[in-house]
Amino acid sequence: MALKNTNNSYGSIAKWIHWTIALLFLCSYCAVYYRHWFTEEKTPENWLALQLHLSFGITIAAVVVLRIIWRNLNQTPDQEPGTKRAHLAAHFGHYALYAVMILMPLTGYIGTGVNTEFFNLFDIAKFESTSLYQSLVTNWMGLSFEEFEEPIDFFHKEIMGKWAVWILILGHAMAAMYHHIVKKDRTLIKMTSG
Ligand code: HEM
Ligand code: HEM
Repeated sequence: MALKNTNNSYGSIAKWIHWTIALLFLCSYCAVYYRHWFTEEKTPENWLALQLHLSFGITIAAVVVLRIIWRNLNQTPDQEPGTKRAHLAAHFGHYALYAVMILMPLTGYIGTGVNTEFFNLFDIAKFESTSLYQSLVTNWMGLSFEEFEEPIDFFHKEIMGKWAVWILILGHAMAAMYHHIVKKDRTLIKMTSG
């Protein structure tokens, strides 16, 4: 199997990165919902689940940087036959997914008031204790952490985490299934075995 993308399929590196990020999203969601549904506030399990959410989220940020670099070094496989509108929708959907992969870790990190104990290996300092925070938020914007965090948290949790990300990912997965089952074209195969 080719490492790089070809005209009619994604290469193995693009496939690995795609499915690794999909798995990391699943793990990040499982951790945060496990925390909400199955743990009590201020217990070790509650803290562990939060830390796993932060660690998976930060891993997504690192892998998406590699993904963007690799995407720019590669051709994009040709789209399957379809209407101009369907191609445009797929294009727009892919860009929206990239926006999610960048904005979710970013808003998660800058809006969190605790350090990340990255899979218990090392600590990543919270944004609030960086010099960038001091110059940008404290000196330039003149905001306290609570004032700064509130709209960012609202965006991360209420707008994106609870709704927009689900809609986009489910819409994307359903479109892939529609191509595979109804249109019987190579869209899904290009990202799996093709
Ligand atoms: C792509 C990555 C991420 C996704 C999809 C994501 C998604 C979510 C979701 C769905 C929630 C729960 C919303 C609710 O209250 O129902 C949440 C909460 C939260 N996220 Fe993220 N997040 C990501 C990355 C991050 C990162 C990198 C950090 C910080 C380093 C972070 C920090 C938080 C915090 C502190 C909460 C509140 C936890 C709680 O209320 O239990 N997130 N996130
Ligand atoms: C069950 C889950 C998923 C399925 C079945 C799936 C399936 C696919 C398929 C078949 C393609 C190729 C489409 C084409 O070339 O027209 C694709 C591409 C893509 N997928 Fe997914 N996907 C899933 C999850 C995700 C997740 C969680 C993300 C990111 C949040 C994502 C982001 C992308 C992006 C950005 C592309 C465009 C190609 C690229 O730039 O790498 N997918 N996906």
